[in-house]
Amino acid sequence: MEDRYAFLAEWFDPIAALMRRFQLFYYPNDGSMEMFDVKNQRVFLKRIKYDDIHPRDLFVGNRVNVFSRQLNLIDYGDQYTRNKLGSKKERTLALIKPDVVTKIGDVMELVYSSNLIVTKAKMTRLSWSQAADFYMEHQSKSFFNNLVQFMSSGPVVAMEIMGDEATSVWRKLLGPADSAAARREAPQSIRAHFGTDGLQNVGHGSESLDAAARELEFFFPSAIGHGPSNTATFTDCTCCIIKPHAVSDGLTGKILNSISAAGFEISALQMFNMERVNAEEFYEVYKGVVLEYPGMVTELCSGPCMALEIRGTDTPKTFREFCGPADPEIARHLRPNTLRALYGKDKVRNAVHCTDLPEDGVLEVQYFFKILDT
Ligand code: TYD
Ligand code: MG
Repeated sequence: MEDRYAFLAEWFDPIAALMRRFQLFYYPNDGSMEMFDVKNQRVFLKRIKYDDIHPRDLFVGNRVNVFSRQLNLIDYGDQYTRNKLGSKKERTLALIKPDVVTKIGDVMELVYSSNLIVTKAKMTRLSWSQAADFYMEHQSKSFFNNLVQFMSSGPVVAMEIMGDEATSVWRKLLGPADSAAARREAPQSIRAHFGTDGLQNVGHGSESLDAAARELEFFFPSAIGHGPSNTATFTDCTCCIIKPHAVSDGLTGKILNSISAAGFEISALQMFNMERVNAEEFYEVYKGVVLEYPGMVTELCSGPCMALEIRGTDTPKTFREFCGPADPEIARHLRPNTLRALYGKDKVRNAVHCTDLPEDGVLEVQYFFKILDT
């Protein structure tokens, strides 16, 4: 029998103003899908090949975009799917330490290439006491003071990563705690590549599922407003949003690397799941002006996006030039080294949003890092 994954999905129908439920089936053999309306017991979408959905996006709790509809995957549809896709899925904390925050793109590339996905991310700076709380278990160790001092010495990037056996996969990617030992024993590991010594060793990974749950709660608490704050400065800055299609295609690491390589500083970073009203509000100035406005709104709330505060000389102007013409086709002809030329698909899925008007740079950064990050 053909392999088939089943999910229960919800979609808020804005016209009828009600939540509709669907059975969603995905066929990994040919990348096709179909949908049934649960209440009305009828076919909603006939089986059709749909390239914009990736098997790695199919897990309970995720939001996927199917023909411009945002569907929330709320449950597995059968035991087969639960066993096949659900049982080994874990969420864990991957923390990038202050020594390599400028290498975040490289680290994310490694995360994606290990079949893990980044579901949350936030750049933050820990105070001495926050770092001490986080590493409480090492309180009595001789290295504790140095460790806390180091962890609070600069920005860190906390990520929730997800995938099969994410906890052990990520720890294996990191390698042994001592970077010298990592170079001897696990030369392909992240600590072997980027680590300095036994203290400055690139990253942290939770040691168990219990620890992962506790440590994720530390950085991404369920109670609003209780986590460590973001690092946005709101001065001399511009706003860049890595759009959901690019995040879902695993391009985040490459885009961050390109931005850093061009000499821009990423001074704040956070992933958001935009609600439609927020996407509409953020893009308000384009309404009635840009033909693609409705598509842009739908794209921005179709899955997690990554917001950045960018600093550098004469941003927003220089950063906007670096993003390139809004249409990737035009960008590929005229400015082949720009972000949109390299990573864009079409006018709506053009990889990144960047602030258009210099005077809006701070305002757009505030929209994400002050208003949405509550
Ligand atoms: P540990 O939990 O042993 O390693 P891991 O990070 O792989 O879980 O130690 C926590 C951190 O403490 C480690 O990443 C770096 C620091 N540390 C030292 O500075 N010196 C040491 O001798 C050890 C064992 C750890
Ligand atoms: Mg540890």
